[in-house]
Amino acid sequence: MKIMLPTQSPMMSKAFTFGVATASFQIEGAADTRLANIWDTFCATPGNIRDGSDGKQACEHVNLWKQDIDLIESLGVDAYRLSISWPRVMNQDGSLNAIGVNFYIQLLDELKQRNIKAFVTLYHWDLPQHIEDNGGWLNRETAYLFNDYANKISQVFADRVYSYATFNEPFCSAYLGYELGIHAPGKAKVKYGRQAAHHILLAHGLAMKTLQQNSPNSLNGIVLNFTPCYPETDSEQDHQAATLADEYMNQWYIKPLFDGCYPDSFALLSAQDAPKIEAGDFDIIRQPLDFLGINFYTRAVYRHCHQKHYQQVDMSMNPKTDIGWEIYPQAFTDLLMTLHQQYTLPPVFITENGAAIADKLDNGQVNDLDRISYYQQHLSAVNNAMLQGVNVAGYFAWSLMDNFEWAEGYLKRFGIVYVDYPSQKRTIKNSGLAYRDLLNSRL
Ligand code: NOJ
Repeated sequence: MKIMLPTQSPMMSKAFTFGVATASFQIEGAADTRLANIWDTFCATPGNIRDGSDGKQACEHVNLWKQDIDLIESLGVDAYRLSISWPRVMNQDGSLNAIGVNFYIQLLDELKQRNIKAFVTLYHWDLPQHIEDNGGWLNRETAYLFNDYANKISQVFADRVYSYATFNEPFCSAYLGYELGIHAPGKAKVKYGRQAAHHILLAHGLAMKTLQQNSPNSLNGIVLNFTPCYPETDSEQDHQAATLADEYMNQWYIKPLFDGCYPDSFALLSAQDAPKIEAGDFDIIRQPLDFLGINFYTRAVYRHCHQKHYQQVDMSMNPKTDIGWEIYPQAFTDLLMTLHQQYTLPPVFITENGAAIADKLDNGQVNDLDRISYYQQHLSAVNNAMLQGVNVAGYFAWSLMDNFEWAEGYLKRFGIVYVDYPSQKRTIKNSGLAYRDLLNSRL
């Protein structure tokens, strides 16, 4: 089975960037060669990770990085999206850790040599534990520590990086990590979630300024995730429920970047839950972006509910991936169109999109037809948005290879490359071959 796009599609032009993505904690392993981070701690508490696993070994990428770059190159991609582990490159006293820094420098040099653009994310959830011990994202000081890290690392990386993203999915760090407590650091209060979000946005704004100074030639921006919200019925009340959910889950993280304020439903927060905001914060947060990264996987449906304003509707009767997320590609087109209408967007990169499938390695092959079909439908959805005027400049498959899927551990496989964890052998899945063939068919 193939993945196909019309030959005249703007995505088939060489100006469009295709890539694969990973994140430090999910693939690196070698946890003993860096400082501890909040995910090490979270994994150590029984019950937090479904299979009781952790990131100590993961894909052993710190040792196998060269062969992983061979793999990336063999897929014919233009770009590789990776993240830097803050606790690997910075010592506790705020100085750079030469061993950690050299690891990434070697990797970035190798990518450059092979003409693969490096899309670097500075924060993909692995906060150093000593910073969490001081309050983590609940402490305003953490925003300044992040800026210091961004400043130091962007200076040493010099011109090796094609694009910097400050943060990956602030929603997950703030809401899942500090409001629901199902991700590290496992804190659970509305007040915490909203305060963490504000400090992360502030950290983003501070670091954006720094990156524009230190690295003016790279594309600098941020990566946000969106789960578009739909009403269950056409009733006014369900529409309002979907709007409120959208503001709380999605708009909360984008509106401050473009409009310099939180959504209207900020007013619904009790005085006790509202985050502390200082004068001038929104001027810092609202920095011009060279690009916006968008991660998309699924949608959510809501109905009105008296006590909570909205209630999520179970859609599990519909087609879904192995992680239980509904497959609804139309939401991808709708999302891109809506954001394009709501905001004056810079060029958009789809920094993540992909599917968890229960793959089986069979005779040296993984025939993941459902993943191929997911990619087919979602690439077409992006193409449709582009035909209607949305400026999408690139697309990254999540993920290069199977890896540590956070609270799900190693049970969910998102890779287009299969990882046999005991032997660490990588096998390109049929989806990976189909992705490669699509990329190679470009003129
Ligand atoms: C979002 C995250 O950025 C990534 O780390 C995660 O593995 C995928 N989505 C799938 O859940």
